[in-house]
This record gives sequence, structure tokens and C-alpha cells, in this order.
Amino acid sequence: MTAPLLSLSGVTRSFGALRAVDDVTLDVPAGARHALIGPNGAGKSTLFKLVTGEMPVTAGRIRLAGQDVTRLSEPQRARRGISQTLQHSSLFLSQTVEQNVLLAAQRRHGSRHSPVPRRQAAARERTRALLADVGLADRATVPVAALSHGERRQVEVALALACEPTLLLLDEPAAGMSPAESARLVDLLRALPESVTVVVVEHDLDVVFALARSVTVLHLGRVLLTGTPDEVRGDTAVQEAYLGTGREALFLDGAGPARREVG
Ligand SMILES: Nc1ncnc2c1ncn2[C@@H]1O[C@H](COP(=O)(O)OP(=O)(O)OP(=O)(O)O)[C@@H](O)[C@H]1O
Ligand SMILES: [Mg+2]
Repeated sequence: MTAPLLSLSGVTRSFGALRAVDDVTLDVPAGARHALIGPNGAGKSTLFKLVTGEMPVTAGRIRLAGQDVTRLSEPQRARRGISQTLQHSSLFLSQTVEQNVLLAAQRRHGSRHSPVPRRQAAARERTRALLADVGLADRATVPVAALSHGERRQVEVALALACEPTLLLLDEPAAGMSPAESARLVDLLRALPESVTVVVVEHDLDVVFALARSVTVLHLGRVLLTGTPDEVRGDTAVQEAYLGTGREALFLDGAGPARREVG
């Protein structure tokens, strides 16, 4: 058996007395479409930060493709193929869609030894392809400030893909999107090649169940369950974790969510 692309063992992050991420052990195979769900404050975003290296672990070990990356910096991990979109946007609002993506593509494209014009041409070409992939080809010259919320999230996905990740982490990519926009996002993510392993944190369970082939439920920093979407939907402990969060109906009716995350 090949090593999982991402392997977490005993990963813990404390903030004072709070264990925001508590002894998380999880293997994500290469090519996975994995969702991480759980109530607000469960530790999902913190876990992503530990994987990207934005924040050090308090304890535990993180491996990428069999190599221990626990002590590597965020840029070192990015060079090894970890890329993410953030729960809160980090785009340059006054710049166009194209300029935002080009910046990321330039960082990645062309060896330092090839001539500058050739590198720039490669980055431009890559930018055009990325914008087409995320469905923004006709919005290239529009300033990000003028985009809808959903379109901004599409730009963020393009930025993350510009780094040519092997592991793409998406933190609430569908938050604030219209149903049409999130359907489009799901199509885009489903169309990604298997060479990109996807882990998504998402409250919109329509998106989760349309995309994920495996799901981990976090609750109070701990893994409650990892299983197939059906196993997760049918699990009593999962339903209880969601009780009182206003999302219990998502699980209890078994028919999938009728509501969307607000705030
Ligand atoms: N930098 C920090 N300092 C102190 N506490 C933090 C910090 N970051 C997160 N926390 C706490 O850790 C817990 C987990 O937060 P986290 O943001 O990971 O949750 P989440 O599952 O992403 O929630 P949400 O669904 O609301 O985005 C929360 O109780 C939060 O208040
Ligand atoms: Mg979060």
C-alpha cells in the first residue's frame, strides 16, 4: 500500500487551556475528495492552519507523501504542494482578476534560468487557463472589488490552483455563495484532476455530499467519526454534535440540507 498523501497522528493544538485540535489522527489518501465538517468552533480552520504550517502544532506529527513536515515552515510546505483557500478573503481588491491570479502564477512559473519574457508568457498562459477553469475567463479585466462574493471565491480557487498543489485545502469555499454559484463550484472541484487531493471544510452539506467521497466530523477538537457520506449522515453521535447548532435538521431529515450557513 502506498503512504497516504496526508497523514496526521495525534495532532494537537492548544490555546491556553483550550484544546482547539485534540489528538487528531487521520489519513487522507492521494486523490481523495475529503470533507471536514463540524459545528462552529470544532477546530476545522485551526487544523488547516496546522497542516499548512501557518501555526505550529502543540503535539503530534504531520506527514505529506510519507515525509514528516511537522517542523517545516509554511513556505517550505507550500513548495511541497500544500495550497489553501482561506475562510476569509485575501485578494487585492483594487487589482483585476487577471492581475491577482498572475501574481500567483508568476511565483510558480518558469525556472529562474529561463529568460524573463518567456517566464512572463508562461505565467500569462497559465493565468488564462486557470481563469477558464474556474469560469472567470470573461471577468479577467474586472477589478476584484466589482465581483460578486461567489466570483471572489472562484478567484481564490484559481489562486490556490496557480501554486499547482498536490494537496488543496478549501476552507468554506461556498460560504455566502448563491445556490447557482455553489453548484458551479462543485462542478469545478469535481473536474480537478486526481493528481490534486482535495480536503474541504464546508458547512453547506449540499456541497459536502456532492463532492466528498469521505468525511471526517470534528467536534470540540476531536474526531468524532471518519466515514463515507452515508455513514456520517446515519451516525447518532454526529447528529447529537449538531444538536443545538441550528443544523440538526440537516442530518435528522436524511434528505440533505435545506438551509445554508449564515454568518
Ligand atoms: N488564535 C487563536 N487563539 C485562541 N483561540 C483560538 C484561536 N484560533 C481559534 N481559537 C479557538 O479554537 C476553537 C476552534 O476554532 P476554529 O476557528 O478552528 O473553529 P472552526 O471549526 O473553523 O469554526 P467555524 O466553523 O466557526 O469556522 C474555537 O474555540 C476558537 O475560538
Ligand atoms: Mg473555520
